[in-house]
Amino acid sequence: MTGTAVYEIRRAQSRQELEAALELRHDVFCVEQGVPERDELDGRDHEGIHLVAVRDGEMLATCRILLVGSTAQFSRLAVKMSARRQGIATALLAAADEESRAGGARRIVLHAQTYARELYELAGYRPRGRVFWEAGIEHIAMEKLLD
Ligand SMILES: CC(C)(COP(=O)(O)OP(=O)(O)OC[C@H]1O[C@@H](n2cnc3c(N)ncnc32)[C@H](O)[C@@H]1OP(=O)(O)O)[C@@H](O)C(=O)NCCC(=O)NCCS
Repeated sequence: MTGTAVYEIRRAQSRQELEAALELRHDVFCVEQGVPERDELDGRDHEGIHLVAVRDGEMLATCRILLVGSTAQFSRLAVKMSARRQGIATALLAAADEESRAGGARRIVLHAQTYARELYELAGYRPRGRVFWEAGIEHIAMEKLLD
């Protein structure tokens, strides 16, 4: 964490908090980035672990983990625009490592938007394969092995 802002990272604790996380995802992916709603809401939220970053009741960031056997699928990482470049996504990625390990995962996989590739590389992810287009945005598959 940088600066003076204090925020907490944890699982979403209530239906209201999950709704606030979904609203942030809608704002970031659908409104800001133009991702179609049918892609953003893929019907798997009920299976997911939803991590959030909250400050004074304000939803700053969220991400989702789906545990599939020994693999954790990480996605839906969204940070409120006014809270970016303060290390919050990096902190969520670290929390996702812990949740995934605790859930029995040996590796985490994700589809990174290529512009944000460095964020994931700095968190220990490595690219796998070629770039591809998903929801109209250039992506690359990345993977991190968990110790
Ligand atoms: C991408 C996103 C999640 C990053 O969140 P963040 O909290 O600002 O990220 P961090 O502060 O932890 O960034 C850590 C490092 O990642 C890299 N990084 C972060 N955002 C970046 C950007 N927009 N462009 C290039 N590199 C970036 C930088 O190296 C950064 O370190 P620095 O700030 O010291 O340069 C946020 O910009 C976002 O929500 N974007 C819109 C949704 C999105 O693209 N989600 C990711 C889908 S793959």
